[in-house]
Amino acid sequence: MIDAPLVRCERVAKTYGSGGSAVVALHGVSCEIGPGQQLAIMGPSGSGKSTLLHLIAGLDTPTSGSVTWPAFGPRRSLRPANIALVLQGPSLLPPLDVVENVAFPLLLVGIDEGEANDRARAALARLDLAGLANKLPEELSGGQAQRVAIARALAQGPRLLLADEPTGQLDHGTATAVVDTLIEAAAHTGAAMVVSTHDPAVGERFAGCWRVADGRLSVDEMPASTSTAAAGSGGAPCSA
Ligand SMILES: Nc1ncnc2c1ncn2[C@@H]1O[C@H](COP(=O)(O)OP(=O)(O)OP(=O)(O)O)[C@@H](O)[C@H]1O
Ligand SMILES: [Mg+2]
Repeated sequence: MIDAPLVRCERVAKTYGSGGSAVVALHGVSCEIGPGQQLAIMGPSGSGKSTLLHLIAGLDTPTSGSVTWPAFGPRRSLRPANIALVLQGPSLLPPLDVVENVAFPLLLVGIDEGEANDRARAALARLDLAGLANKLPEELSGGQAQRVAIARALAQGPRLLLADEPTGQLDHGTATAVVDTLIEAAAHTGAAMVVSTHDPAVGERFAGCWRVADGRLSVDEMPASTSTAAAGSGGAPCSA
Protein backbone atom coordinates (compact mmCIF):
# COMPACT_ATOMS: atom_id res chain seq x y z
CA MET A 1 0.00 0.00 0.00
CA ILE A 2 1.27 3.48 -0.81
CA ASP A 3 1.46 5.66 2.32
CA ALA A 4 -0.93 8.59 2.39
CA PRO A 5 0.76 11.99 2.05
CA LEU A 6 1.32 13.95 5.25
CA VAL A 7 0.14 17.13 3.54
CA ARG A 8 -1.68 17.82 0.29
CA CYS A 9 -2.06 21.36 -1.07
CA GLU A 10 -4.54 21.75 -3.91
CA ARG A 11 -4.59 24.99 -5.91
CA VAL A 12 -3.72 26.94 -2.80
CA ALA A 13 -3.80 30.72 -3.11
CA LYS A 14 -3.13 33.25 -0.36
CA THR A 15 -3.88 36.96 -0.55
CA TYR A 16 -3.02 39.29 2.32
CA GLY A 17 -5.17 42.42 2.71
CA SER A 18 -7.82 43.55 0.27
CA GLY A 19 -8.58 46.15 -2.38
CA GLY A 20 -5.72 48.27 -3.63
CA SER A 21 -3.36 47.11 -0.89
CA ALA A 22 -3.92 43.37 -1.48
CA VAL A 23 -0.76 41.25 -1.88
CA VAL A 24 -1.07 37.90 -3.61
CA ALA A 25 1.56 35.81 -1.82
CA LEU A 26 0.71 32.43 -3.42
CA HIS A 27 -1.00 31.66 -6.73
CA GLY A 28 -2.63 28.24 -7.02
CA VAL A 29 0.12 26.05 -5.52
CA SER A 30 -0.41 22.28 -5.63
CA CYS A 31 2.01 19.94 -3.84
CA GLU A 32 2.29 16.92 -1.57
CA ILE A 33 4.76 15.90 1.11
CA GLY A 34 5.15 12.17 1.65
CA PRO A 35 6.33 10.33 4.79
CA GLY A 36 10.07 10.67 5.27
CA GLN A 37 10.50 13.11 2.39
CA GLN A 38 13.26 15.70 2.80
CA LEU A 39 13.00 18.95 0.87
CA ALA A 40 14.52 22.37 0.67
CA ILE A 41 12.40 25.34 -0.43
CA MET A 42 14.42 28.06 -2.11
CA GLY A 43 13.32 31.38 -3.49
CA PRO A 44 13.98 35.10 -3.23
CA SER A 45 12.83 37.23 -0.31
CA GLY A 46 9.09 37.88 -0.55
CA SER A 47 8.46 34.97 -2.92
CA GLY A 48 6.06 33.16 -0.53
CA LYS A 49 8.17 30.55 1.31
CA SER A 50 7.02 31.46 4.84
CA THR A 51 3.43 31.78 3.67
CA LEU A 52 3.54 28.26 2.20
CA LEU A 53 5.12 26.78 5.37
CA HIS A 54 2.51 28.44 7.60
CA LEU A 55 -0.30 26.99 5.46
CA ILE A 56 1.30 23.52 5.47
CA ALA A 57 1.56 23.71 9.28
CA GLY A 58 -2.11 24.74 9.58
CA LEU A 59 -1.13 28.03 11.23
CA ASP A 60 -2.99 29.99 8.58
CA THR A 61 -5.78 29.23 6.10
CA PRO A 62 -5.68 29.66 2.33
CA THR A 63 -7.77 32.31 0.57
CA SER A 64 -8.79 29.62 -1.94
CA GLY A 65 -7.87 26.00 -2.56
CA SER A 66 -7.33 23.49 0.21
CA VAL A 67 -4.66 22.14 2.56
CA THR A 68 -5.34 18.68 3.99
CA TRP A 69 -3.31 16.21 6.07
CA PRO A 70 -4.41 12.78 4.75
CA ALA A 71 -1.99 10.71 6.87
CA PHE A 72 -3.22 12.26 10.10
CA GLY A 73 -6.89 11.33 9.72
CA PRO A 74 -9.82 13.58 10.55
CA ARG A 75 -8.87 16.96 11.97
CA ARG A 76 -9.54 17.08 15.71
CA SER A 77 -7.84 20.30 16.70
CA LEU A 78 -7.14 23.75 15.31
CA ARG A 79 -3.98 22.50 13.65
CA PRO A 80 -2.59 19.00 13.21
CA ALA A 81 -0.41 17.60 15.96
CA ASN A 82 2.62 15.72 14.59
CA ILE A 83 3.75 18.83 12.70
CA ALA A 84 6.37 21.08 14.29
CA LEU A 85 7.31 24.42 12.77
CA VAL A 86 10.43 26.44 13.51
CA LEU A 87 9.35 30.02 12.78
CA GLN A 88 11.62 32.38 10.88
CA GLY A 89 11.49 35.08 13.56
CA PRO A 90 11.94 35.03 17.35
CA SER A 91 9.51 32.59 18.93
CA LEU A 92 10.70 31.79 22.46
CA LEU A 93 8.45 32.79 25.35
CA PRO A 94 10.33 35.54 27.26
CA PRO A 95 9.39 34.58 30.87
CA LEU A 96 10.42 30.94 30.47
CA ASP A 97 14.01 29.76 30.58
CA VAL A 98 15.45 27.67 27.75
CA VAL A 99 14.58 24.24 29.11
CA GLU A 100 11.05 25.40 30.01
CA ASN A 101 10.60 26.80 26.49
CA VAL A 102 11.60 23.48 24.95
CA ALA A 103 9.43 21.47 27.36
CA PHE A 104 6.37 23.72 27.04
CA PRO A 105 4.76 22.17 23.90
CA LEU A 106 5.18 18.72 25.48
CA LEU A 107 3.33 19.84 28.63
CA LEU A 108 0.57 21.25 26.40
CA VAL A 109 -0.09 17.80 24.91
CA GLY A 110 -0.26 16.20 28.36
CA ILE A 111 3.25 14.75 28.79
CA ASP A 112 4.20 14.78 32.48
CA GLU A 113 6.73 17.30 33.70
CA GLY A 114 9.57 14.87 34.40
CA GLU A 115 9.46 13.30 30.95
CA ALA A 116 8.99 16.67 29.25
CA ASN A 117 12.11 17.99 31.00
CA ASP A 118 14.13 14.89 30.10
CA ARG A 119 13.12 15.19 26.44
CA ALA A 120 13.84 18.92 26.45
CA ARG A 121 17.32 18.40 27.93
CA ALA A 122 18.09 15.61 25.43
CA ALA A 123 17.07 17.83 22.50
CA LEU A 124 19.18 20.71 23.84
CA ALA A 125 22.19 18.41 24.24
CA ARG A 126 21.77 17.25 20.65
CA LEU A 127 22.20 20.85 19.50
CA ASP A 128 25.10 21.47 21.91
CA LEU A 129 22.97 23.81 23.99
CA ALA A 130 22.99 22.03 27.35
CA GLY A 131 24.95 24.92 28.88
CA LEU A 132 22.13 27.36 28.09
CA ALA A 133 19.35 25.36 29.77
CA ASN A 134 18.68 27.87 32.55
CA LYS A 135 19.14 31.09 30.58
CA LEU A 136 16.26 33.37 29.66
CA PRO A 137 15.63 34.15 25.97
CA GLU A 138 16.84 37.75 26.46
CA GLU A 139 20.24 36.39 27.48
CA LEU A 140 20.70 34.50 24.18
CA SER A 141 22.20 35.62 20.89
CA GLY A 142 19.92 35.47 17.84
CA GLY A 143 21.63 32.32 16.61
CA GLN A 144 21.40 30.60 20.00
CA ALA A 145 17.68 31.45 20.22
CA GLN A 146 17.21 30.03 16.73
CA ARG A 147 18.90 26.77 17.76
CA VAL A 148 16.77 26.54 20.92
CA ALA A 149 13.68 26.86 18.69
CA ILE A 150 15.01 23.96 16.59
CA ALA A 151 15.57 21.89 19.76
CA ARG A 152 11.98 22.67 20.78
CA ALA A 153 10.70 21.34 17.44
CA LEU A 154 12.88 18.19 17.59
CA ALA A 155 11.80 17.45 21.19
CA GLN A 156 8.22 17.09 19.96
CA GLY A 157 9.22 14.09 17.79
CA PRO A 158 7.08 15.34 14.87
CA ARG A 159 6.27 13.28 11.77
CA LEU A 160 6.73 16.46 9.74
CA LEU A 161 9.30 19.05 10.74
CA LEU A 162 9.08 22.43 9.02
CA ALA A 163 11.91 24.90 9.52
CA ASP A 164 11.72 28.41 8.07
CA GLU A 165 15.24 29.72 7.41
CA PRO A 166 16.67 27.79 10.38
CA THR A 167 20.22 28.82 9.55
CA GLY A 168 19.51 32.46 8.64
CA GLN A 169 21.36 33.85 11.66
CA LEU A 170 24.16 31.29 11.89
CA ASP A 171 27.78 31.35 10.74
CA HIS A 172 28.74 28.78 8.12
CA GLY A 173 30.19 26.23 10.58
CA THR A 174 27.23 26.37 12.97
CA ALA A 175 24.78 26.29 10.04
CA THR A 176 26.42 23.11 8.73
CA ALA A 177 26.24 21.51 12.20
CA VAL A 178 22.55 22.46 12.57
CA VAL A 179 21.66 21.05 9.15
CA ASP A 180 23.57 17.85 10.01
CA THR A 181 21.57 17.58 13.25
CA LEU A 182 18.26 18.14 11.47
CA ILE A 183 19.03 15.56 8.78
CA GLU A 184 20.27 13.00 11.34
CA ALA A 185 17.25 13.55 13.61
CA ALA A 186 14.82 13.17 10.71
CA ALA A 187 16.61 10.04 9.45
CA HIS A 188 16.57 8.57 12.97
CA THR A 189 12.84 9.13 13.52
CA GLY A 190 11.68 8.75 9.89
CA ALA A 191 10.21 12.27 10.01
CA ALA A 192 9.65 14.23 6.84
CA MET A 193 11.35 17.60 6.78
CA VAL A 194 10.96 20.80 4.79
CA VAL A 195 13.48 23.58 5.24
CA SER A 196 13.29 26.99 3.58
CA THR A 197 16.60 28.63 2.89
CA HIS A 198 18.36 31.31 0.87
CA ASP A 199 21.64 29.42 1.18
CA PRO A 200 22.45 27.11 -1.79
CA ALA A 201 24.91 25.17 0.42
CA VAL A 202 21.98 24.29 2.72
CA GLY A 203 19.60 23.61 -0.18
CA GLU A 204 21.87 21.06 -1.84
CA ARG A 205 21.96 18.92 1.32
CA PHE A 206 18.32 17.85 0.87
CA ALA A 207 17.08 15.14 -1.48
CA GLY A 208 14.45 17.34 -3.11
CA CYS A 209 14.23 20.97 -4.14
CA TRP A 210 11.15 23.14 -4.42
CA ARG A 211 11.54 26.63 -5.79
CA VAL A 212 9.14 29.45 -5.12
CA ALA A 213 9.17 32.54 -7.32
CA ASP A 214 6.48 35.22 -7.19
CA GLY A 215 4.14 32.89 -5.32
CA ARG A 216 4.48 30.03 -7.80
CA LEU A 217 6.02 26.65 -6.97
CA SER A 218 8.23 24.49 -9.19
CA VAL A 219 10.16 21.31 -8.45
CA ASP A 220 13.75 20.72 -9.60
CA GLU A 221 13.81 17.50 -11.60
CA MET A 222 16.59 14.91 -11.82
CA PRO A 223 18.25 14.60 -15.24
CA ALA A 224 16.42 11.84 -17.22
CA SER A 225 19.29 9.34 -16.83
CA THR A 226 19.01 9.37 -13.03
CA SER A 227 15.30 10.03 -12.68
CA THR A 228 14.51 6.76 -10.88
CA ALA A 229 16.73 7.89 -8.00
CA ALA A 230 14.42 10.87 -7.52
CA ALA A 231 11.24 8.84 -7.20
CA GLY A 232 9.42 9.87 -4.07
CA SER A 233 11.96 12.49 -3.13
CA GLY A 234 10.16 15.48 -4.63
CA GLY A 235 12.73 15.97 -7.37
CA ALA A 236 16.47 16.54 -7.29
CA PRO A 237 18.63 18.35 -4.73
CA CYS A 238 18.83 22.11 -5.26
CA SER A 239 21.63 23.02 -7.61
CA ALA A 240 23.12 26.46 -8.05
N1 LIG B 1 0.91 39.18 7.31
C1 LIG B 1 1.11 39.74 6.11
N2 LIG B 1 0.41 40.81 5.70
C2 LIG B 1 0.58 41.36 4.48
N3 LIG B 1 1.47 40.91 3.57
C3 LIG B 1 2.23 39.85 3.93
C4 LIG B 1 2.10 39.22 5.21
N4 LIG B 1 2.98 38.18 5.26
C5 LIG B 1 3.61 38.18 4.09
N5 LIG B 1 3.17 39.17 3.27
C6 LIG B 1 3.61 39.44 1.89
O1 LIG B 1 3.46 38.22 1.16
C7 LIG B 1 4.57 38.02 0.29
C8 LIG B 1 5.26 36.69 0.63
O2 LIG B 1 5.84 36.82 1.94
P1 LIG B 1 6.61 35.61 2.63
O3 LIG B 1 6.90 36.06 4.02
O4 LIG B 1 5.85 34.38 2.43
O5 LIG B 1 7.96 35.57 1.76
P2 LIG B 1 9.31 34.74 1.99
O6 LIG B 1 9.63 34.03 0.71
O7 LIG B 1 9.20 33.93 3.21
O8 LIG B 1 10.39 35.91 2.20
P3 LIG B 1 11.75 35.91 3.08
O9 LIG B 1 12.76 35.12 2.29
O10 LIG B 1 12.11 37.38 3.14
O11 LIG B 1 11.45 35.33 4.41
C9 LIG B 1 5.46 39.25 0.44
O12 LIG B 1 5.12 40.16 -0.59
C10 LIG B 1 5.08 39.80 1.79
O13 LIG B 1 5.26 41.20 1.84
MG1 LIG C 1 10.19 33.94 5.00
